Amino acid sequence: MERLDKLLSSRLNITRKQAKELIKNEKVSVNGKTVKSADFKCGDDDEVVADSKRINTSRFVYIMMNKPKGVICASDGKGDKTVIDLLPEDMKRKGLFPAGRLDKDTTGFVLITDDGEFAHNILSPKKHIEKAYTALLDKPVNENVIKDFEAGMSLGEEKLLPARLKTLNENNTEVEIIISQGIYHQIKRMFLKHGITVLELKRTSLGSLTLDKNLKEGESRYLTEEESAKIHS
Ligand code: URA
Repeated sequence: MERLDKLLSSRLNITRKQAKELIKNEKVSVNGKTVKSADFKCGDDDEVVADSKRINTSRFVYIMMNKPKGVICASDGKGDKTVIDLLPEDMKRKGLFPAGRLDKDTTGFVLITDDGEFAHNILSPKKHIEKAYTALLDKPVNENVIKDFEAGMSLGEEKLLPARLKTLNENNTEVEIIISQGIYHQIKRMFLKHGITVLELKRTSLGSLTLDKNLKEGESRYLTEEESAKIHS
Protein backbone atom coordinates (compact mmCIF):
# COMPACT_ATOMS: atom_id res chain seq x y z
CA MET A 1 0.00 0.00 0.00
CA GLU A 2 1.19 3.51 -0.81
CA ARG A 3 0.20 7.03 0.24
CA LEU A 4 -2.13 8.58 -2.32
CA ASP A 5 0.04 11.69 -2.90
CA LYS A 6 3.12 9.51 -3.46
CA LEU A 7 1.27 7.23 -5.84
CA LEU A 8 -0.07 10.15 -7.86
CA SER A 9 3.31 11.84 -7.95
CA SER A 10 5.08 8.75 -9.29
CA ARG A 11 2.39 7.54 -11.70
CA LEU A 12 1.64 10.99 -13.14
CA ASN A 13 5.24 12.17 -13.05
CA ILE A 14 4.30 15.27 -11.04
CA THR A 15 5.70 16.68 -7.78
CA ARG A 16 4.33 15.68 -4.38
CA LYS A 17 3.15 19.28 -4.02
CA GLN A 18 1.17 19.08 -7.27
CA ALA A 19 -0.29 15.74 -6.18
CA LYS A 20 -1.41 17.28 -2.87
CA GLU A 21 -3.03 20.17 -4.77
CA LEU A 22 -5.03 17.72 -6.92
CA ILE A 23 -6.25 15.97 -3.77
CA LYS A 24 -7.05 19.26 -2.02
CA ASN A 25 -9.04 20.43 -5.04
CA GLU A 26 -11.16 17.25 -4.81
CA LYS A 27 -9.94 16.01 -8.21
CA VAL A 28 -9.04 12.53 -6.95
CA SER A 29 -11.26 9.57 -6.20
CA VAL A 30 -10.52 6.07 -4.99
CA ASN A 31 -13.06 3.36 -5.80
CA GLY A 32 -15.61 5.99 -6.74
CA LYS A 33 -15.28 8.17 -3.61
CA THR A 34 -13.52 11.53 -3.52
CA VAL A 35 -10.54 11.36 -1.19
CA LYS A 36 -9.37 14.51 0.57
CA SER A 37 -6.37 13.28 2.54
CA ALA A 38 -2.95 12.92 0.99
CA ASP A 39 -1.96 10.12 3.34
CA PHE A 40 -4.84 7.87 2.28
CA LYS A 41 -3.39 4.41 1.62
CA CYS A 42 -4.11 2.63 -1.65
CA GLY A 43 -2.64 -0.13 -3.78
CA ASP A 44 -2.76 -2.27 -6.91
CA ASP A 45 -6.42 -3.29 -6.57
CA ASP A 46 -7.85 0.19 -6.05
CA GLU A 47 -9.42 2.20 -8.84
CA VAL A 48 -7.80 5.62 -8.62
CA VAL A 49 -9.07 8.43 -10.84
CA ALA A 50 -7.38 11.84 -10.99
CA ASP A 51 -8.68 14.69 -13.12
CA SER A 52 -11.13 12.22 -14.71
CA LYS A 53 -8.27 9.93 -15.80
CA ARG A 54 -7.88 6.35 -14.54
CA ILE A 55 -4.43 5.93 -12.99
CA ASN A 56 -2.38 2.79 -13.46
CA THR A 57 -1.77 1.92 -9.80
CA SER A 58 0.52 -1.09 -10.40
CA ARG A 59 3.72 -0.96 -8.41
CA PHE A 60 5.79 -1.67 -11.53
CA VAL A 61 4.99 -1.47 -15.22
CA TYR A 62 6.43 -3.37 -18.18
CA ILE A 63 6.07 -1.77 -21.59
CA MET A 64 6.81 -3.17 -25.05
CA MET A 65 7.91 -0.52 -27.54
CA ASN A 66 8.58 -0.81 -31.25
CA LYS A 67 11.55 1.55 -31.37
CA PRO A 68 11.97 3.63 -34.50
CA LYS A 69 15.34 4.77 -35.88
CA GLY A 70 16.85 7.98 -34.53
CA VAL A 71 15.95 7.61 -30.84
CA ILE A 72 18.29 6.35 -28.17
CA CYS A 73 17.79 3.75 -25.47
CA ALA A 74 18.35 5.90 -22.38
CA SER A 75 16.30 7.84 -19.86
CA ASP A 76 18.16 11.08 -20.46
CA GLY A 77 19.12 11.78 -24.07
CA LYS A 78 21.25 14.89 -23.38
CA GLY A 79 19.85 16.45 -26.55
CA ASP A 80 18.87 13.24 -28.34
CA LYS A 81 15.30 11.99 -28.28
CA THR A 82 14.90 8.91 -26.07
CA VAL A 83 12.51 5.98 -26.03
CA ILE A 84 11.06 7.48 -22.82
CA ASP A 85 10.25 10.74 -24.65
CA LEU A 86 8.23 8.68 -27.15
CA LEU A 87 5.91 7.18 -24.55
CA PRO A 88 2.37 8.55 -24.57
CA GLU A 89 1.75 10.93 -21.64
CA ASP A 90 -0.54 8.51 -19.82
CA MET A 91 2.20 5.85 -19.76
CA LYS A 92 4.91 8.14 -18.43
CA ARG A 93 5.78 7.77 -14.76
CA LYS A 94 8.83 8.27 -12.57
CA GLY A 95 11.75 5.88 -12.81
CA LEU A 96 11.09 4.39 -16.27
CA PHE A 97 14.10 3.22 -18.23
CA PRO A 98 14.82 0.85 -21.14
CA ALA A 99 15.97 -2.59 -19.98
CA GLY A 100 18.85 -3.04 -22.42
CA ARG A 101 20.08 -1.04 -25.35
CA LEU A 102 19.58 -0.99 -29.07
CA ASP A 103 21.74 1.24 -31.26
CA LYS A 104 20.26 4.56 -32.39
CA ASP A 105 19.68 3.19 -35.90
CA THR A 106 18.30 -0.20 -34.76
CA THR A 107 14.52 -0.65 -34.66
CA GLY A 108 12.23 -3.06 -32.87
CA PHE A 109 11.52 -4.51 -29.46
CA VAL A 110 12.56 -2.49 -26.42
CA LEU A 111 11.29 -3.35 -22.96
CA ILE A 112 10.73 -0.33 -20.74
CA THR A 113 10.16 -0.71 -17.01
CA ASP A 114 10.59 0.92 -13.60
CA ASP A 115 11.42 -2.41 -11.97
CA GLY A 116 15.17 -2.19 -11.37
CA GLU A 117 15.60 -5.62 -9.84
CA PHE A 118 13.80 -7.32 -12.71
CA ALA A 119 15.83 -5.40 -15.31
CA HIS A 120 19.05 -6.29 -13.53
CA ASN A 121 18.04 -9.94 -13.66
CA ILE A 122 17.15 -10.10 -17.33
CA LEU A 123 20.19 -8.07 -18.31
CA SER A 124 22.56 -10.17 -16.25
CA PRO A 125 25.22 -11.61 -18.57
CA LYS A 126 24.79 -14.91 -16.70
CA LYS A 127 21.17 -15.23 -17.86
CA HIS A 128 21.87 -15.61 -21.59
CA ILE A 129 18.39 -14.49 -22.62
CA GLU A 130 17.93 -15.14 -26.36
CA LYS A 131 17.25 -12.14 -28.57
CA ALA A 132 16.16 -12.48 -32.20
CA TYR A 133 16.89 -9.89 -34.87
CA THR A 134 16.27 -9.55 -38.57
CA ALA A 135 18.88 -7.80 -40.66
CA LEU A 136 19.32 -6.56 -44.18
CA LEU A 137 22.90 -6.99 -45.40
CA ASP A 138 24.90 -5.36 -48.18
CA LYS A 139 26.29 -8.75 -49.29
CA PRO A 140 24.94 -12.29 -49.08
CA VAL A 141 25.97 -14.65 -46.31
CA ASN A 142 27.46 -18.01 -47.21
CA GLU A 143 27.96 -21.32 -45.37
CA ASN A 144 31.26 -20.09 -43.88
CA VAL A 145 29.57 -17.15 -42.20
CA ILE A 146 26.75 -19.33 -40.88
CA LYS A 147 29.28 -21.84 -39.50
CA ASP A 148 31.30 -19.10 -37.81
CA PHE A 149 28.17 -17.70 -36.14
CA GLU A 150 27.18 -21.17 -34.96
CA ALA A 151 30.61 -22.10 -33.68
CA GLY A 152 30.83 -19.10 -31.36
CA MET A 153 33.10 -16.67 -33.18
CA SER A 154 36.05 -14.74 -31.83
CA LEU A 155 35.59 -10.99 -31.83
CA GLY A 156 38.77 -9.21 -30.80
CA GLU A 157 39.72 -10.65 -27.42
CA GLU A 158 36.26 -12.05 -26.93
CA LYS A 159 35.07 -15.59 -27.71
CA LEU A 160 31.33 -15.33 -28.27
CA LEU A 161 28.66 -17.86 -27.42
CA PRO A 162 27.20 -19.77 -30.37
CA ALA A 163 24.62 -17.77 -32.31
CA ARG A 164 22.10 -18.86 -34.94
CA LEU A 165 21.90 -17.41 -38.42
CA LYS A 166 19.20 -18.24 -40.95
CA THR A 167 18.61 -16.71 -44.37
CA LEU A 168 15.17 -15.35 -45.16
CA ASN A 169 15.40 -14.57 -48.88
CA GLU A 170 16.73 -16.21 -52.01
CA ASN A 171 19.78 -14.00 -52.40
CA ASN A 172 20.80 -14.50 -48.74
CA THR A 173 20.87 -10.81 -47.83
CA GLU A 174 17.94 -10.90 -45.42
CA VAL A 175 18.67 -12.92 -42.34
CA GLU A 176 17.47 -13.82 -38.87
CA ILE A 177 20.06 -13.87 -36.10
CA ILE A 178 19.60 -15.20 -32.59
CA ILE A 179 22.15 -14.21 -29.96
CA SER A 180 22.20 -14.75 -26.22
CA GLN A 181 24.61 -12.00 -25.22
CA GLY A 182 24.49 -8.24 -25.49
CA ILE A 183 27.95 -7.04 -26.41
CA TYR A 184 28.33 -3.51 -27.82
CA HIS A 185 27.34 -3.41 -31.53
CA GLN A 186 27.52 -7.21 -31.40
CA ILE A 187 25.63 -8.13 -34.56
CA LYS A 188 27.15 -5.39 -36.71
CA ARG A 189 30.62 -6.44 -35.58
CA MET A 190 29.92 -10.14 -36.18
CA PHE A 191 29.02 -9.43 -39.81
CA LEU A 192 31.79 -6.89 -40.27
CA LYS A 193 34.28 -9.59 -39.38
CA HIS A 194 33.15 -11.24 -42.63
CA GLY A 195 33.26 -7.99 -44.62
CA ILE A 196 29.47 -7.60 -44.50
CA THR A 197 27.74 -4.35 -43.52
CA VAL A 198 24.39 -4.41 -41.73
CA LEU A 199 22.09 -1.95 -43.51
CA GLU A 200 19.00 -2.45 -41.36
CA LEU A 201 18.64 -4.15 -37.99
CA LYS A 202 15.45 -4.90 -36.10
CA ARG A 203 14.95 -6.78 -32.82
CA THR A 204 11.93 -9.06 -33.10
CA SER A 205 11.99 -10.94 -29.81
CA LEU A 206 13.37 -10.87 -26.32
CA GLY A 207 13.42 -14.19 -24.44
CA SER A 208 9.95 -15.70 -24.76
CA LEU A 209 8.32 -12.43 -25.87
CA THR A 210 7.77 -11.52 -29.50
CA LEU A 211 7.33 -7.98 -30.77
CA ASP A 212 3.62 -7.32 -31.32
CA LYS A 213 3.08 -6.97 -35.07
CA ASN A 214 0.27 -4.48 -34.44
CA LEU A 215 2.67 -1.97 -32.87
CA LYS A 216 3.79 0.55 -35.44
CA GLU A 217 7.25 2.10 -35.08
CA GLY A 218 7.19 4.50 -32.13
CA GLU A 219 4.18 2.82 -30.51
CA SER A 220 4.07 1.12 -27.11
CA ARG A 221 1.77 -1.02 -25.05
CA TYR A 222 1.81 -2.61 -21.59
CA LEU A 223 2.74 -6.28 -21.49
CA THR A 224 -0.31 -8.48 -20.98
CA GLU A 225 -0.56 -10.42 -17.72
CA GLU A 226 0.42 -13.54 -19.60
CA GLU A 227 3.52 -11.87 -21.04
CA SER A 228 4.48 -10.45 -17.63
CA ALA A 229 4.15 -13.90 -16.09
CA LYS A 230 6.42 -15.33 -18.82
CA ILE A 231 9.24 -12.86 -18.23
CA HIS A 232 9.09 -13.33 -14.46
CA SER A 233 9.22 -17.14 -14.59
N1 URA B 1 23.70 -5.67 -32.23
C1 URA B 1 24.03 -4.50 -32.82
O1 URA B 1 25.01 -4.40 -33.53
N2 URA B 1 23.24 -3.43 -32.59
C2 URA B 1 22.11 -3.48 -31.84
O2 URA B 1 21.40 -2.48 -31.69
C3 URA B 1 21.78 -4.71 -31.24
C4 URA B 1 22.59 -5.80 -31.44
